[in-house]
Amino acid sequence: MIDKYLNFIRCVSIKWYGTLGVILTTSSFITMVLLEFFRLIGSLTNAYIGLVTYMALPILFVLGLILILIGWYRLKQETGKNIQELLALRYSDDDIKGGFYGSRIVKTVIIFSLINIIFLSSVFLNMFSFMDKAEFCGTACHSVMNPEWVTYKQSPHSRVNCVECHVGEGVDALVSSKMNGIWQMISVTFDLLERPIPTPVHQLRPAPETCEKCHWPDKFYGNRLKSIVTYASDEKSTVAYTTLNMKIDAERTAGKAGIHWHIADENEVRYAYADEKRTKIVWVEVKQPDGSFKRYNNSQFVGSEIIDSRSMDCVDCHNRATHIYEDPDKAIDTRIRKGLLSRELPFLKREALGAIIAGYADNKAAMEGIANHLYHFYRTNYPKLVISKMTEIDAAVKTLQDIYNRNIHHGMKIGWGAYPSHIGHANETNGCFRCHNSYLKNDEDESIGYDCTLCHSILADEQNQPFKFLLMPDTLDPNYQMHRYLQQEFINSYLE
Ligand code: HEC
Ligand code: HEC
Ligand code: HEC
Ligand code: HEC
Ligand code: HEC
Repeated sequence: MIDKYLNFIRCVSIKWYGTLGVILTTSSFITMVLLEFFRLIGSLTNAYIGLVTYMALPILFVLGLILILIGWYRLKQETGKNIQELLALRYSDDDIKGGFYGSRIVKTVIIFSLINIIFLSSVFLNMFSFMDKAEFCGTACHSVMNPEWVTYKQSPHSRVNCVECHVGEGVDALVSSKMNGIWQMISVTFDLLERPIPTPVHQLRPAPETCEKCHWPDKFYGNRLKSIVTYASDEKSTVAYTTLNMKIDAERTAGKAGIHWHIADENEVRYAYADEKRTKIVWVEVKQPDGSFKRYNNSQFVGSEIIDSRSMDCVDCHNRATHIYEDPDKAIDTRIRKGLLSRELPFLKREALGAIIAGYADNKAAMEGIANHLYHFYRTNYPKLVISKMTEIDAAVKTLQDIYNRNIHHGMKIGWGAYPSHIGHANETNGCFRCHNSYLKNDEDESIGYDCTLCHSILADEQNQPFKFLLMPDTLDPNYQMHRYLQQEFINSYLE
């Protein structure tokens, strides 16, 4: 049997490229079967394996087949003989007797072709489903997608495939995403890509096709307690608490409405913008119960040229739902809170921040720079501590390097603040305050609300107690009035 196969192979491979073709096809076939086998029994889990099994090897397999055919075609051209004569030339009489279609060799070729067709279709099916997986999107063009992949893996959506947010429903969404993918491959190959990749992503599908498959507007109700813990830059890295009660309702219950009111089914907010980043809002329109739209005009941008307008959806606020880049200050606060950075090290917050925000030429310089910064500071100022707290200092260096690697990507020119979030009003994009401000006014001279308790009750604002405003204030406290007001507002927000 093996002899017969080898004989078949020997005769099928014409010229050096024919031989190469046979080697490519056979070896990629065997490797694919082996890899798939090991993947199925679970001993191969590496994310790159799929890339090899479903993308690289099938390409080699088909390339091999093409080379074999080219070999035969060249032989036909050179000798001027037809296929039947060529077969007679390459194979023994035994193989070709019984007429052209009845001959053993033609039967073998037909069987091999059928096997190839079945094999290739299953590979292509696998390839398409693999292309829908996050591993493919995140690792296929490693250097380019690495920042998105890294931030994605640490996000609440790390188990949601990229295509569920990036490709909507239906054939046209699929086709346009594949076309876009081809363009991306070209731009990566010829380095035509803008770095960092510009946002907002204009071709994102509307939220009903993506986000709302899993989070539908009716689902948002009530409040959500948000606790923010910060550390000061003093010697003890003193802790402070900010506690907000976020009003995340989608409906107007008893005259009150919450943050998700914008996207409730019956509501529509649309706006026109004068910059690609969609931060210069020229006007905002709100749908009224009678179907007409009420407009607010921005006195800051009168006469600015409007680029486009759009209906507000999730990503106008949650632009960083998945690719979450941290603010350096907050990144350190979170790590201290998790116990990854020890406050037993004096001036930890201040020095840690200094170490990660210093400008570094590349990643290697940053890793060294962060280590040098910390070791140098403690060695110079607290020589005894360097010995007693060596473990803590080493751990701090490692944690800060991790923070850097997660957020800074030199290859894609992503530095601190490259992708600010619109949630809140702390970033330079102004988040909610793009619209909730005193400049946007309607014909009745009313603005969109910007009262401090419209979106959240405030239970502590950088205080030493997480629920400071719920405690009874001292009557001598200069903030007595404000304290009482915030306390009452919180309680009232739960009343009918
Ligand atoms: C939960 C939804 C969601 C998932 C899952 C998701 N993304 Fe995104 N992605 C977004 C949104 C929303 C934006 C738009 C950000 C903006 O417009 O400011 C975005 C933006 C991007 C960008 C533009 C650069 C940037 O960071 O804003 C790239 C590239 C990208 N995503 C790639 C990926 C890849 C690769 C995966 C899978 C590994 C993925 N995305 C998974 C929602 C998602
Ligand atoms: C395939 C389902 C799916 C899709 C599509 C999806 N999400 Fe999610 N989302 C989840 C899951 C699951 C979680 C994690 C819930 C948890 O941790 O309890 C989550 C968490 C979130 C959170 C964080 C909530 C928190 O606890 O802080 C936000 C915000 C969010 N999603 C917004 C979006 C936006 C915006 C989109 C569209 C761009 C989107 N999601 C698309 C499933 C999805
Ligand atoms: C007007 C801005 C805005 C819009 C529009 C918006 N959100 Fe939110 N969303 C918020 C804010 C603010 C919070 C509270 C976040 C926090 O403090 O952690 C929130 C919270 C959430 C949460 C967590 C809720 C919980 O129960 O803890 C999810 C999930 C979410 N949003 C998904 C979505 C999706 C999906 C859409 C679109 C259908 C959407 N949001 C539209 C601003 C918005
Ligand atoms: C594109 C403009 C725009 C942005 C950005 C925006 N809003 Fe709004 N918001 C509006 C408009 C318009 C209204 C309704 C004003 C009216 O009733 O006429 C509104 C109303 C609200 C309301 C009250 C609902 C009511 O009328 O009782 C809350 C709460 C709210 N927004 C929270 C937020 C939060 C939180 C953010 C940021 C995460 C945000 N908004 C971002 C335009 C915006
Ligand atoms: C249009 C809605 C809205 C209005 C009006 C508003 N806020 Fe906020 N605020 C938010 C949202 C959303 C966040 C972000 C919560 C988060 O981090 O998830 C936030 C965050 C904060 C924070 C925490 C900042 C941090 O460290 O992350 C403070 C403090 C705060 N707001 C105070 C105020 C004060 C004071 C006012 C009045 C001047 C005000 N807010 C008005 C929506 C609003």
